[in-house]
Amino acid sequence: MAEAGIGGAALSPGAETTMAEKLWGGRFQRPTAAELERISESFSFDRRLAGAEIRGTRVHAHRLRQAGVLDAAELAALERGLDQLAAELDGGPPPAPAAGAPEDVHTYVFQRLLAAAGDAARKLQTGRSRNEQVALDLRLYLLDLRPEFERHFAALLTALAGFAEAHAEIVIPGYTHGQRAQPISLGHHALAYAEMLLRDRERFEQACRRLAVSPLGSGALAGAPLAYDRELAARELGLERASRNSLDAVGDRDFVAEIHFVLAQLGIHLSRWAEDWILYAGAEFGWLIIADEYATGSSLMPQKKNPDALELIRGKAARLAGNLMQSLVLQKGLPLAYNRDLQEDKPALFDSLDTARDCLALAAGVAASAGVDARRAARAAADPALLATDLADLLVERGVAFHAAHAQVGRLIAAALAAGDADFRALPEAELQRFLPQLPAADVRALDAARCLARRDILGGAAPAQVRARARELHRFAARTDN
Ligand code: ARG
Repeated sequence: MAEAGIGGAALSPGAETTMAEKLWGGRFQRPTAAELERISESFSFDRRLAGAEIRGTRVHAHRLRQAGVLDAAELAALERGLDQLAAELDGGPPPAPAAGAPEDVHTYVFQRLLAAAGDAARKLQTGRSRNEQVALDLRLYLLDLRPEFERHFAALLTALAGFAEAHAEIVIPGYTHGQRAQPISLGHHALAYAEMLLRDRERFEQACRRLAVSPLGSGALAGAPLAYDRELAARELGLERASRNSLDAVGDRDFVAEIHFVLAQLGIHLSRWAEDWILYAGAEFGWLIIADEYATGSSLMPQKKNPDALELIRGKAARLAGNLMQSLVLQKGLPLAYNRDLQEDKPALFDSLDTARDCLALAAGVAASAGVDARRAARAAADPALLATDLADLLVERGVAFHAAHAQVGRLIAAALAAGDADFRALPEAELQRFLPQLPAADVRALDAARCLARRDILGGAAPAQVRARARELHRFAARTDN
């Protein structure tokens, strides 16, 4: 019989039903406030953990059987229920919640098992808490995404390597401080981003390895009072090991923050790449052509072809960085062990995973389809300012100390600027001899960007041979991860 609450009415029969559907309704006299229900429900977003919840529940049921909590018939009934539910969901999430939806994915699976397997389901929460369930589900969910992310990384690396190989000889100005510095190639520039992505990929992999730990058997916070083989449970889940402190196991979310960091840094890398390519596609630079499929137009200006794909990639990096901050602040000052605040980890995590995956796929499309305006590149690469360092290097080859060579070339450049920003190679022979007495004028006049590029034939350097060799390595690497 429902008691009258302090200052409140007795439970109505309808409300009683509602409370009974919960996993925890027993001690409550009155139904949950609608405002709390609304903010408390997580099924609308944690339903994507259903597959993980089913796997965790199956392993837990086996451990309960070993601990003598379930008999063989009960375990068999639960297994059938789990099989049925898994087959029904077929790797996808349960349908979007309608009215009367369960509070969370844990309640959902419980309710479905109750319907399919009967009272055996009521024993499942022996020694088990949603605190450890959600920690386990998140870990399994992240590990499940590994192959998909691998494929996306491989596709983008392949696209960048292909672009680099094709354009290893398209010389463009390389910049430092936003100023033209030395010649590089479009291919060398693209491979710089491939290296960043390789590190992002490796960080994702390492973070996954670290989070492959099972909290099962931790209970709500203190550990299950059962003969429960936790290491066996971890192995059955395909995880590396069982956690070693039950408070930590249910309360820690640094694995979430770490994934956020990996994705945020990936987003930041992609945003830097996007920014470079947006500039390169603009008229002021002009040597990159974004494919129509990855650009949009203006409703007002008929001539416009806007690099929206790249702008959105750049913009999404803000979300990824913001979500990282949210996951850190969520943990700040949170007392042990589990607190409901932690439910807020999921929307941001799912958002970052979806966003990062979409950005990787979009970036691969942009990179694979981009073209080059070789004429515009050649025009920019013809700037003689790009040759100044190589001129000093030629003097060094003639025995001049670099510091002195630097000063000589600096004076020559100043004289060329004074002569109306002239090409120093075109100065009269007598002038060249005055500034660079150690060097035949013919050597000065023969300098060009392609030659400067070819001279950087050093591991990691801008020479086309180096760029092609690294692009081939990346191709092989990406092909391996594709299989
Ligand atoms: N929905 C919760 C979360 O996402 C699951 C754990 C709830 N535990 C609890 N004691 N209410 O964190």
